[in-house]
Amino acid sequence: MDNTIGIGLLGFGTVGSGVYEHLTRNGNLLRERLGIDLRIERIAVRDPAKERTAPRELFTTDITAVINDPRVRVVVELMGGLREAKTAIEAALRADKVVVTGNKALLAEHGAEIFALSDAMSVPVFFEASTAGGIPIIKAVREAFVANHFLSFHGIINGTSNYILTRMTEAGLDFPTALAEAQARGYAEADPTLDVNGWDAAHKAIILASLAYGTWVRPDGISVEGIDAVSAADIRFARQLGYRVKLIANINAGDQGAISVGVHPTLIPQDHVLASVNGVFNAIAVKGDVVGDALFYGRGAGGGPTASAVLADVADAATALVNRGTPRCSGFRAHGLYGKALPPDAVVSRYYLRLAVDDQPGVLAQVAGALGRNGIGISSALQPEQHDADGRAQLILMLDRARHAQVKSALAEIEALACVKPPAALLRVETFA
Ligand code: NAP
Ligand code: HSE
Repeated sequence: MDNTIGIGLLGFGTVGSGVYEHLTRNGNLLRERLGIDLRIERIAVRDPAKERTAPRELFTTDITAVINDPRVRVVVELMGGLREAKTAIEAALRADKVVVTGNKALLAEHGAEIFALSDAMSVPVFFEASTAGGIPIIKAVREAFVANHFLSFHGIINGTSNYILTRMTEAGLDFPTALAEAQARGYAEADPTLDVNGWDAAHKAIILASLAYGTWVRPDGISVEGIDAVSAADIRFARQLGYRVKLIANINAGDQGAISVGVHPTLIPQDHVLASVNGVFNAIAVKGDVVGDALFYGRGAGGGPTASAVLADVADAATALVNRGTPRCSGFRAHGLYGKALPPDAVVSRYYLRLAVDDQPGVLAQVAGALGRNGIGISSALQPEQHDADGRAQLILMLDRARHAQVKSALAEIEALACVKPPAALLRVETFA
């Protein structure tokens, strides 16, 4: 039996070059553990002139030549982007090549189509690297927890945001300096917009929720906010109140099987385990009806951790190819056991509200009145002695649980008050109760 599996690499950036480096370094270990020789046969890149850390003869700019190379049985897509990556993955599936990808944006947008083709062709797509880098959460959801209904996931799943929030909280850095650091360390995407506006985490949440609940969650049906909405003042006030601000991806299964998926900067109690997840680290707290609580922690970005996930998928694919001929089909299987995602306005949460207000009698009563008319209670209030740079008082209110629609309606009334200077700062609060 020939125990060599040829790999075609599409992309040789942060992750692709990491895969090459670590496969070269640990190839012997993998050979001993798997009894398989994993060999990178060809690599597609965009720029033929760039300096590379692999032999020049492996490189081409022709994606199709890599996919159709007869030695290649596993195609590893690490180019990023949507259109070319989708075309490449579909071509690989049609050519009977097992696919491994870390492309969360592509799966979140087009996962339903890609997995339908994967099923139709009986050729699997592995995607561990798409969600939380080196943390094996896809394998856990798909295999280790297969007997569970998932009650909730709370995840810190964007390393760049977590790095920025940590540096702003602990070193007092401003946002641009902290972002530049994250980019220099290879955590942020080439275009960091999606890291900062919450959509990178949302893509991962969509993949996790879709896998957990067997229905492909649509990006336009979920609520997403990024850390660009968080100010240094909110981080400071949250600390005074006993909370840390983290970008939390929250996935919940409700009573009637309806699921909710959202990504928001969120105040979490400073003694909760997720509050001590700092820097580029990711963590995901999972609650299953059989297993109870489980926690996953590790590096969610960067060449090494992501290469570790890619190589684990390659090892699974190669083992199956060598032993049985065809690897187990498709990591995502649609079923109808759960409802659709709840509309964002129907999702219930506690909230933190910071207002810049005129320092005069009756202001708190007007604000409380608007909240009361919308059925929202106040659980605590803070008004520091110091005024803001415009000479206004800062009013910080912790609100009781309410639907987002109620809070939006109250906020519209509050921001229209003459004594309030908009915009208000509104953040979610999660107490894990
Ligand atoms: P990257 O550093 O930007 O590298 C992209 C690579 O793809 C480059 O080698 C580029 O070629 C090549 N490429 C792009 N378009 C191409 C095309 N049309 N034809 C041929 N080659 C093309 O990206 P990355 O950070 O490694 O990320 C790769 C994927 O992994 C993305 O989907 C990303 O979301 C995902 N991911 C990244 C991380 C991370 O920590 N970075 C973690 C998890 C998942 P040139 O070298 O010639 O420019
Ligand atoms: N830019 C992503 C992050 C990379 O910061 O988490 C890992 O997906």
